Amino acid sequence: MTTVTAVPLVDLGWQRDQIAAEVQDGWDAVLARTSFVGGPDVAAFEQEYAEYLGSGHVVGTANGTDALEVALRALGVEQGDEVVVPANTFIATAEAVRRAGATVVFADVDDATLLLDPASVEAAVTDRTRAIIPVHLFGQMAPVDAIRRITDRIGALLVEDAAQSQGARRHGLCAGTLGDAAGTSFYPGKNLGAFGDAGATITPDAEVARRARLLGQHGSLVKYQHEAFGFNSRLDTLQAVVLRAKLRRLDAWNELRREAAARYDALLADVPGVRPPATLDGNEHVWHLYVVRVADRDRVLAELNAAGVGAGIHYPVPVHLTAAFRAPAVLEGSFPVAEAAAKQILSLPLYPGITLEQQEHVVATLRAVV
Ligand SMILES: Cc1ncc(COP(=O)(O)O)c(C=O)c1O
Repeated sequence: MTTVTAVPLVDLGWQRDQIAAEVQDGWDAVLARTSFVGGPDVAAFEQEYAEYLGSGHVVGTANGTDALEVALRALGVEQGDEVVVPANTFIATAEAVRRAGATVVFADVDDATLLLDPASVEAAVTDRTRAIIPVHLFGQMAPVDAIRRITDRIGALLVEDAAQSQGARRHGLCAGTLGDAAGTSFYPGKNLGAFGDAGATITPDAEVARRARLLGQHGSLVKYQHEAFGFNSRLDTLQAVVLRAKLRRLDAWNELRREAAARYDALLADVPGVRPPATLDGNEHVWHLYVVRVADRDRVLAELNAAGVGAGIHYPVPVHLTAAFRAPAVLEGSFPVAEAAAKQILSLPLYPGITLEQQEHVVATLRAVV
């Protein structure tokens, strides 16, 4: 038995090895065709992912940030509109709103799950609210049913940020299929991750899908007929080959993540000072990240890293307090749950292929440090 001395936050080598031969064959075929943009692999992946999701249309994009911007713009969100996003998310959720021309309005998250808090959303909506973006954070779905009740009442759109939740389900339905549209990211470390940047817009509406596709192709579906102001955001052909290979394994790999999370739950049960993550009722979690909360987090993180444990923070600064999004009217203390959590959250290493010995090493080191 090998003695574990270091554990990275994410190790993509195990996944790469499982699909290496398949990807090589697929890439060889692309090279043989010299058809480097679009082509059968992109169309096939979009089709296969839509089948996996169980409903909706999938439109590949260059990355997840574009996927969200495309979703918003395809739905008609524009300047003058307000869009509500959680304060605790990756900054891309808010960037997409601003790039679509709309105004970002923040709301707080729930203390138990760190998912968008419907009560805080209620306080954030105005007569200019055009959309609400619940973020399916860390691998579990936000309470979309409660958010849907709000959007239905005020006549707004529901756009899911499904970047961290490929394969997650709520009451049996897949992340990305419950909104008017969704954006997802296939950044390499995601549950369904490419070998580079990639993303997709998902929508149940054929006309929204058509608009999404043309927005990412310079506003054009027929060459040189530009019916809208678009940009270039296409799913790369070589990445589509990788995603097709990984999609076939997504459920099995998510199951490995669930087993690893259950092992952490058990190993951490008697470690004082470590608050384990909570799963919202009705959710099938896919553990994109395993996020605990500890006091004195920065010291704990530094000591873990010094001991070779690649823990991380998702995210150290709530978006409303970043230099990019700080507004004069948004004071520190506006979103107390997100702000307190940002000082306590700690993501432990978790990925398909992580071993029990590695997890025991992480928890033993954490126990000693805390
Ligand atoms: C919650 C969330 N939204 C959006 C994105 C943006 O995706 P990308 O990096 O592919 O642009 C990410 C990932 O990076 C994310 O984690």
